[in-house]
Amino acid sequence: MKNFDDLSFDEQDEVVNPRPEDNDFDRIVELALSRRDVFKGVVAVGGIAALGQNFFNQSAFAADSRFAFTPIATNSLDDITVPEGYSAQVVTRWGDPLWSDAAEFDHATRGTAESQARSFGDNIDGMEVYAHGDRMLLVVNNEYTNRKVMWGNREEGKFETDDDIKKGKAAHGVTVVEITREGDDWKIVKDSEFNRRITPDTEMDLTGPAAGHDLLKTAADPNGTLSLGTWNNCGNGSTPWGTYLACEENFNGYYSSSDENFEFTDEMKRYSVSAKDRGYGWAKVDERFDVSKHPNESNRNGYVVEIDPREPGANPKKRTALGRFKHENAETVVNPDGRIVVYMGDDERGEFIYRYVSNGVYAPGASTDDLLDDGKLYVARFYEDGSGTWLEMTPETTGMESQAEISIHTRIAASAVGATTMDRPEWVAANPKAPEIYVALTNNKNRGIKPNAGGDATPAGGPNPREENHYGQIVRWRPADGDHTSNDFSWDLYVLAGNPTVHDDLYGGSDNVNEDNMFNSPDGLKFDSNGLLWIQTDGNYSNEKDFAGQGNNQMLAADPATGEIQRFLVGPKECEVTGLTWSPDRRTMFVGIQHPGERGNSHWPEGGDAVPRSAVIAVTRDDGGLVG
Ligand code: FEO
Ligand code: CA
Ligand code: CA
Ligand code: CA
Repeated sequence: MKNFDDLSFDEQDEVVNPRPEDNDFDRIVELALSRRDVFKGVVAVGGIAALGQNFFNQSAFAADSRFAFTPIATNSLDDITVPEGYSAQVVTRWGDPLWSDAAEFDHATRGTAESQARSFGDNIDGMEVYAHGDRMLLVVNNEYTNRKVMWGNREEGKFETDDDIKKGKAAHGVTVVEITREGDDWKIVKDSEFNRRITPDTEMDLTGPAAGHDLLKTAADPNGTLSLGTWNNCGNGSTPWGTYLACEENFNGYYSSSDENFEFTDEMKRYSVSAKDRGYGWAKVDERFDVSKHPNESNRNGYVVEIDPREPGANPKKRTALGRFKHENAETVVNPDGRIVVYMGDDERGEFIYRYVSNGVYAPGASTDDLLDDGKLYVARFYEDGSGTWLEMTPETTGMESQAEISIHTRIAASAVGATTMDRPEWVAANPKAPEIYVALTNNKNRGIKPNAGGDATPAGGPNPREENHYGQIVRWRPADGDHTSNDFSWDLYVLAGNPTVHDDLYGGSDNVNEDNMFNSPDGLKFDSNGLLWIQTDGNYSNEKDFAGQGNNQMLAADPATGEIQRFLVGPKECEVTGLTWSPDRRTMFVGIQHPGERGNSHWPEGGDAVPRSAVIAVTRDDGGLVG
C-alpha cells in the first residue's frame, strides 16, 4: 500500500471517500429499465463491434499525409525530443522571477514564500497567448506543486515551517507574463505592467446564479459574492472576446478538518471534501481551509474563472453558471446564431460531460459580461446506438430548489437527470473546420467495477467500452444539423488507446493505433488552425508490461478525417505533457511540461544536479515555417 501522500488526486479521493462496494440494486434496475431500449446488452466486446463499423474503417489513411513532420520514436530520455527540422527551447520555468526585484530561483532552498509570490508558479497546465497591440501576453495555469520537489530541501520532502506551506500555496494559481522574441530566443519581459500572479489569495468575484446564495456565504464574506483565490487550475479555455478561462479541478484536496468528529454532508462527500488534505497544510496557515470552522468555503471552488490578461488590476470572475465540479477545461464555441456554447468535462472516474449555452448572443464590441452568467446548463447522455442527448438541469428536471443550488451541487443535479458516467473526461476540443467536438477520456480503472462517488453505475459500453480501462480513448460527437445548441448529437470513438504489442483484444487499441504511434492516457486536446488535433498524454511512463514501448509522456498529432495519428514530441522523465498554444503568427508552438521528476528521477531542464522544474517550451521550425 502506497503512502497516502504519494497517491494521485483520484486515489486519495477514494481513500477519504470510499465508493460503495456494490452498486445500489434499485438504482441498477431503474437504470436498466430507463435505458432498455437503447443499451442493448452492455457487453464491451459486443457493443464495440456493433458501433465500430463506421469507426474502425478509418484505417485507410490518405496517401498524402497532412502532417508536416517526420514522426519520432518513443524514448525514456530526460529531455525533450522533437522531429528533425524542429527545435525546442525553454521560455520560462517554475521559480523564474517576473520582476527584477525578486530573487532568482535558488536550487538549494527552492525559494521562499516571498520569492515564490513574485515568480512563475509550479506545474504548468492549460495556457494561452494573447496579442495586445504588438505585445504578447502568456497566461498559464499553475495547477499544483509536487511536495517532494517543492520541499525537497527538507529531509522528508514535506513542509517543516509556515513559510514552506506559504511557498507551496503561492506556487498555485495562474501566471500572466509578457513574452517577446529576440532573434531566435523567446524570453519573458520582466517588470511588464501586465505581469501578474494570481494565487489562492487573490480577490475574485462570484458571479452568476449562485452569487449571494447562502451556501456561498462565509465569515469573511457574509454576502457570498467575493472569494479569495483559485487553485488546482487544470486545463483552460479562451473566449472570443479575448479573456482566459482557468478551470478549477481537484480543489477539494486543500481542505481539512481540525475537528475529527465533524460531520461531512452528502454534498461534501460527493466532492470528496474531507478531514484530510493532500499534504499541503494550508489550514495550518489559513483557517478558511478548516472545513469544521468554515464549512461553506469549499463551496466557493470548483468553478471556471474568467481572467482578463489586459487588466492586471481587475478581479477575476468565478462564473458559477458553468457549474461546480472538477473542471478540466472549457472549450468555447460561437454557435452559428451567435450564442456561446461551452463544453466541459468533470475529471473523476465515472463523472460527466457538460454543456453551457448562453441566452444572449455574442456581438463583437458589445458587452459580453452576461454571456457566461445567464444561460442554461446541460449534461450528456450517450446511447449505445451512437446517438446522444443533452439533458437540461433545472429545478423541474433535477428536483433541486433553485438554479443556484444546481450551480453549486452540479454533480448531484447531473446524477438526478441520468447522465452517462464517463471514463474521466479530460480536455474537450472543438474542430475549427467542422461542427464536431472531441473529448479525451483518459482512463478509468473502476469502469465496470465500481460506481462513481454518487453511486451511479458504470457499466462498460457505449463511449466507455472497456472494463478496468487503463489506456483511455477519444470520443467525438457532432451536434444535429451543425447546431451546437441542439439537444441531439451523434457520436463515435475516434481512437481507443492501447498496446497492440501486448494485447490482441480491445486493449490492443483501435486500428489507428500501432507499434509506432501507441500511447496511453490522452489528456490535453487542442486543434490548431489547420484542423489537426493535438493529443497530449498524462499516463503511465514505466515503459514496461502493459505500457512497454510507450516511453515517456508525449504529444501526437491526429487527422480527424483519416484517423491517422503520429508522434511529434516526447517529454522528459516523469513529466506530463499538458497545455498548448501558439504565437499569433503560428510560427511558434508553446507546450507545457508538468512535473518532470515527480518520483525523483529528473534534472530537466537544467541537467546536472539541478532541481527539476516545470516549464513552458517554445517549439519552432528551423526553416521558420508554420507549426499549426
Ligand atoms: Fe489536471 Fe484532469 O487533469
Ligand atoms: Ca489534465
Ligand atoms: Ca490527467
Ligand atoms: Ca497532472
